[in-house]
Amino acid sequence: MKVFKDKTSLRNFLEPFRAEKKSIGLVPTMGALHGGHISLVETCKKKNDICVVSIFVNPLQFNDKSDYEKYPHTPEADVELLEKARTDVLFIPDYSEMYVSNPMLKFQFGKLEAVMEGAFRPGHFSGVGIVVSKLFNIIQPTDAYFGQKDFQQVLIVKQLVKDLSYSINIHTCPTMRDTDGLAMSSRNKRLDESSRALAAELYKSLKKAADYGHRSSNVHAEQLKKIIVEHLAQYPEIVTEYVEVAHKETLDLMSGECNPEDVVMLLACYIGGVRLIDNMFVKDQQL
Ligand code: PAJ
Repeated sequence: MKVFKDKTSLRNFLEPFRAEKKSIGLVPTMGALHGGHISLVETCKKKNDICVVSIFVNPLQFNDKSDYEKYPHTPEADVELLEKARTDVLFIPDYSEMYVSNPMLKFQFGKLEAVMEGAFRPGHFSGVGIVVSKLFNIIQPTDAYFGQKDFQQVLIVKQLVKDLSYSINIHTCPTMRDTDGLAMSSRNKRLDESSRALAAELYKSLKKAADYGHRSSNVHAEQLKKIIVEHLAQYPEIVTEYVEVAHKETLDLMSGECNPEDVVMLLACYIGGVRLIDNMFVKDQQL
């Protein structure tokens, strides 16, 4: 695996591949890698001639300073996992390589960021938009890979690509889960034993609502939400920030009777002070 810390060397390295019309896949990450990240790398390797992974903990997208400071860093283990997955290139810049000065640019994604992560983490998606644009400009990939785990982020990135005419195919990869259903996440490393055991209830609450959706001929958004909220309410240690039922393409919040094919259920909760998010379709759920 070739490792680059500076964008000029990386660009020079990729130039001949681009000239030969090789496809270049990018998997952007913030490190502390786990099986979810590696599944993106594997898909990228299958679909592209060159697979580039970036690791950069982007301060701009953290609205909570302590979340940024506590974000796990496991560089040696990350390199080992990426080598094992036969990653071609790792781009691991430091802050000054990515930001010459604090950017003046701000992105606004309208109604796509008016709800959920956008509403509870002001400025988060502007920060994501800026760093993802920078990575797209530096690496100029033909394809980029994102996880459904961050559902709203995928829609934001697709909008960014549309609005700025990037000619990059955005691929959405399924959420990888631990055996008890907990969605893999770098933040899981911060859970103590009892919080970790409890964290599987997030998945179970979504699964319970999806099962109801499967059984019913007509699905009500309020009923889906109620099943999730009531399940989580059994555990006082789980502090729910939001539970929403939204249209899977527009993120419009749903009410009343809805077509289960259109619906995604999303939640954010704190357990033991760690913020976790998850989501699930009612139909086509990955189990
Ligand atoms: P990070 O949280 O490191 O995630 C990197 C990518 O891995 C994202 O596309 C995310 O959705 C995906 N991912 C995380 N957990 C996953 C899981 N359990 N299964 C499948 N995919 C999973 O998301 C970010 O970093 C940043 O916002 C970034 C896009 C890198 C911009 O800074």
